[in-house]
Amino acid sequence: MRIVLGVGGGIAAYKAASLLRLFTESGHDVTVIPTEAATRFVGTATWEALSGHPVSNSVWDDVDKVNHVRLGHEADLIVVAPATADVLARAAAGLADDLLTGTLLMARGPVVMAPAMHTEMWRHAATRANVEVLRSRGITVIEPTSGRLTGADSGPGRLPEPADIFAAALAATDGGGAGDGALQGKRVTISVGGTREALDPVRFLGNRSSGKQGMALAEAALAQGALVTLVLAHAEVAPPRGCDIVRVESALQLRDAVLEALPATDVLVMAAAVADFRPAETAATKIKKNDDGTDPVLTLVRNPDVLRDAVLAREALLGRDGRDGPLVIAGFAAETGDATADPLTHARAKLARKGCDFLVLNVVGSDRVFGADSNEVTILDAGGSESAPLRGTKRVVADAVISHAASLLAR
Ligand code: CTP
Repeated sequence: MRIVLGVGGGIAAYKAASLLRLFTESGHDVTVIPTEAATRFVGTATWEALSGHPVSNSVWDDVDKVNHVRLGHEADLIVVAPATADVLARAAAGLADDLLTGTLLMARGPVVMAPAMHTEMWRHAATRANVEVLRSRGITVIEPTSGRLTGADSGPGRLPEPADIFAAALAATDGGGAGDGALQGKRVTISVGGTREALDPVRFLGNRSSGKQGMALAEAALAQGALVTLVLAHAEVAPPRGCDIVRVESALQLRDAVLEALPATDVLVMAAAVADFRPAETAATKIKKNDDGTDPVLTLVRNPDVLRDAVLAREALLGRDGRDGPLVIAGFAAETGDATADPLTHARAKLARKGCDFLVLNVVGSDRVFGADSNEVTILDAGGSESAPLRGTKRVVADAVISHAASLLAR
């Protein structure tokens, strides 16, 4: 997506730098427009270096390009963070006395504003009225959070965390980077759900994977124009319409289906919870209670690591005639910290072990991920970059993952 990030002149302007990185790291193209006052808090050099684009706040720069018209028309999304009382007032009044307010008047896509100011300013009748006007025009004005403000004061008026603004911004664009066609015609294969390892014809060893994150990935990939193949193990939610579905039950079946899909695949995302072990033997008939009173003993054997196998299979595939493009492979890692290392350290080691292009790290606590509708992840790239923590619905996370894959594919 093309995003314009407007930055108002408040102390929270420094937090917009983290927000900018969240956007760029998930593959979006961002132009920053600070107000004159904002450049007193964070200089234009910072915005230029982080966005990779020249930065201006005046309609008098590059007059021949008529920047406010171009930027406003081309933006798929405009986010203003922090939106100060002054920016809210100027936007509500329809002023166009600098590049940001001029661009806002030319906006064709969604606009999201994240206010930050002292509590008295936020509660002032003038600001309340301005927020109401902006909302009545369809602009999303996020509620500021409560907490410590610039000085010793505290109360509502704090800029929400960058991860929350990021989530709200993507939600305003219909759930994400929807529809810019970054994966038009590309084949995305996603493994989804939890495998079941049969003990006998009626029993299995399973896991709690709901499949929600995998389905959200499928939606995100479809929204980018991809052809989606789901290698679908057991899931609690239905797949979106428009996917090719290969149903599997066990890890071995899942591996076969993934490897079969691989030659035609441009992006593989291993979102399935694959059982690491299976019963050494599957009884052909239902296991009965023993008459002699002894309990059965289960022997488990290791399942293949499908992600690792896919990475190894890729090496053979890429050298082969008839394959013209790269194959991006991504994995998920659910990690807790332990006595030896924190979750990030474990995830970095896992990324190296698996050899995939990037790993999506879920930091898991007691019941933070399975079945939940939202998620917090960090994207670790084999190139060494790591995103700031991304928080949001599974769809928002999915959009970030799919955008990251699309940006690697386009490299
Ligand atoms: N995965 C896989 N095959 C397996 C196990 C996992 O392809 N047999 C994939 C998952 O789909 C996920 C990634 O590997 O994308 C990470 O899975 P995880 O279970 O967290 O990693 P493990 O290698 O099992 O590491 P550990 O259990 O030691 O943390």
